[in-house]
Amino acid sequence: MAFEGVDGAGKTVLARIVSEALRERFPELEVLQVREPGGTSVGEKVRKILLHWTGKVCNLAEVLLFATGRAQLWEEVISPALQRGAVVISDRSAYSSLAYQGEARGVGAAQVWTVNNIALQGNWPDLVFFLDVDPEVGLGREDEHDRISSEGLALQERVREGYLKSWRADPERIVRIDASKSLKEVFDEVMEIIFERFGWHNDPS
Ligand code: TYD
Repeated sequence: MAFEGVDGAGKTVLARIVSEALRERFPELEVLQVREPGGTSVGEKVRKILLHWTGKVCNLAEVLLFATGRAQLWEEVISPALQRGAVVISDRSAYSSLAYQGEARGVGAAQVWTVNNIALQGNWPDLVFFLDVDPEVGLGREDEHDRISSEGLALQERVREGYLKSWRADPERIVRIDASKSLKEVFDEVMEIIFERFGWHNDPS
């Protein structure tokens, strides 16, 4: 499963507290937390270019670099973990590329989908939480800006449009959550959906 949203939507903290809650509730279950871009040594190098490089990175190079990190993460980490029976919780995923590169950068969803489908060998996340928050609120929550989030509000508004399009196209897989609510409320809603989807009982007794 993956957590998605504009910058500052709260993905990172939710991915962490949901992972911790599942580990506590199911001590036998392997819960693996990953982040994109990153999660492998190749991915972390690519992350440095993508987030901190001050030279030019054209839009297609950006698509391919994110997909490079993703291909490595799938092959080296996610695929073996799923085969072991682990639950994988990802802070961002290929849906970020559809929103940021496909929609906001204007590369086009079809092209970005194709590249990422190759990188993922067809294995897209089965459950995606789209934490939907006003991009202005999101940017205001962030204390540090990277190469992409420092581009400002107009880009983030288009990113949100991208997520809305993905959500409308596939509302079964992508669950939209109102992330302007308190962290506790968002967490409770997310946990309820996870238990329902996995057919687990949310009863600690
Ligand atoms: P991230 O590390 O999640 O930053 P934050 O926690 O601040 O949201 O993501 C870094 C940036 O990379 C963020 O601005 C979104 C962008 N991004 C893309 O443009 N495409 C992608 O495929 C991914 C994974 C991230």
